[in-house]
Amino acid sequence: MRLAQSTYEEVGRYLERSRGIILPTGSTEQHSPIGVMGTDHIDAETIAWRTGDLCDALVGPTVTIGISEHHMTFPGSITLRPTTYIAFMTDYILSLVEHGFERFYVLNGHGGNTSTLNAAFAEVYTTVRRRFGCAMPDVRAKAMKWFENDICEARALELTGHTALGHASAAEVSVAQAADPANIRKAKLEPDFAPLDHTFYNSADFRRRFPDGRIESNPENASPEIGAALLETAAAFHAEQYRAFILAD
Ligand code: NI
Repeated sequence: MRLAQSTYEEVGRYLERSRGIILPTGSTEQHSPIGVMGTDHIDAETIAWRTGDLCDALVGPTVTIGISEHHMTFPGSITLRPTTYIAFMTDYILSLVEHGFERFYVLNGHGGNTSTLNAAFAEVYTTVRRRFGCAMPDVRAKAMKWFENDICEARALELTGHTALGHASAAEVSVAQAADPANIRKAKLEPDFAPLDHTFYNSADFRRRFPDGRIESNPENASPEIGAALLETAAAFHAEQYRAFILAD
């Protein structure tokens, strides 16, 4: 069930049976010459929608832009300042708190968002406590990067022969290809790719280390078929995680 395609009455009825919601977050940034700019948010959205179907969860509007400072030397990449992102996510979540939502499962497609998402959650907790005092609602937020778990990683290794943990991995590019054929590109890349190393500093440093934008990845063998299979694995995993999250004491 998608919030954007629900009426306020439908959301009201949903709130009578659940206080949980899935929020897809990602980025708009380069993903090598093969992956499209929207890969991270397209993946998060597609998996969130499928997850929502599996566990009868409402899915909020996708946050399509995130923290992409180190990709800014590549044309088309867009970034928010961390303070903007914290403010945006805090307002997004607090708006829903006003309506009675208490469990926020942020299904994130972009690792660069993680620390800033956690800062936003800290802001949410502080604001809720100050607003409600000891009568405060039990608001909880959790960010999960969709492929950063043993189950999705094992499936990615099986289907693509490579880790999903790099940038522009065949795994993440495949899921975007499964979402829409308009996201499919074919290209021959240099055979060598930079190994997994996140010790870069600024955007110029990133470009020097990773000239075609990849980190420990080769998306040449990405396909919509692989993406569709990974999507099912990821959605089943996150449906289970979501259920545990909203039922936890
Ligand atoms: Ni990505």
